[in-house]
Amino acid sequence: MSANILDGKAIANALRQDIKQRVEQHIANGLRPPGLAVVLVGKDPASQVYVASKRKACEEVGFKSLAYDLPSTAQQQQLLNLIEELNVNDDIDGILVQLPLPAHIPAEIIIERILPDKDVDGFHPYNIGRLALRQPALQPCTPRGVMTLLTHTNIDIRGLDAVIVGASNHVGRPMLLELLMAGCTVTSCHRFTRDLEAQVRRADILVVAVGKANIVDGHWIKPGTIVIDIGINRSGQGKLQGDIDFNTAKQHAAWITPVPGGVGPMTVATLLQNTLDAAEKSYNKSRG
Ligand code: GUN
Repeated sequence: MSANILDGKAIANALRQDIKQRVEQHIANGLRPPGLAVVLVGKDPASQVYVASKRKACEEVGFKSLAYDLPSTAQQQQLLNLIEELNVNDDIDGILVQLPLPAHIPAEIIIERILPDKDVDGFHPYNIGRLALRQPALQPCTPRGVMTLLTHTNIDIRGLDAVIVGASNHVGRPMLLELLMAGCTVTSCHRFTRDLEAQVRRADILVVAVGKANIVDGHWIKPGTIVIDIGINRSGQGKLQGDIDFNTAKQHAAWITPVPGGVGPMTVATLLQNTLDAAEKSYNKSRG
């Protein structure tokens, strides 16, 4: 058996086309374009690549993109002042501060200062709380993107056993809340999980978000499982690979995301979707 491929690149492109058309319609109706401010502190090479792709994606769908590049020596207060300024800027619907921040700036203090309605990363405690209460507002991009991918399998996922490997604040935990809200029976695996193999073997939906190649052995996957690989790792030869060996896993899974070209493009497209959602909320507010 060889799995169906969940082609995140194609699904993300379709989503971006749809967003672009909606932006064109809003502009034709006399509204301003959605605006996203992307803030980068320092020169982390991976962050520079991610931020460049987010800014480019914004421009391609007709958003206004504001770029703020601060030196790695920037102080916490300087960043908080910038956020305050963006919070009250009516042309800006979304504020994204790329993580990780330099060690002297605590990310949680920065995230909490972003107006929840402009928190297009969905990381603010308000937005995480809304998700936990099944009243989602702005949802974290990667888990929301994974939910979009799952709809493309046309499988009713209610009641399925979903196993998530990795319990990070920004990916694993909100992923758990999304799958729970969608009616799955959810298991969260983390560093203290005693028998990872036994948990993975039970999964109907397996989501792996650790950031460590081969953390899950592809042979453990039950026939028919939907496998979502969120990991992005660079091999010794500089090749990108996920957290699961794709060639092994695809012989067992019913559906699988490739790396690259699976979840990654969905994260960026979902950021655009969140920014458009925030802009549409703002248009409706100013209409009164
Ligand atoms: N760093 C890696 N992924 C992300 C993301 O989705 N949002 C932010 N703000 N920083 C990141």
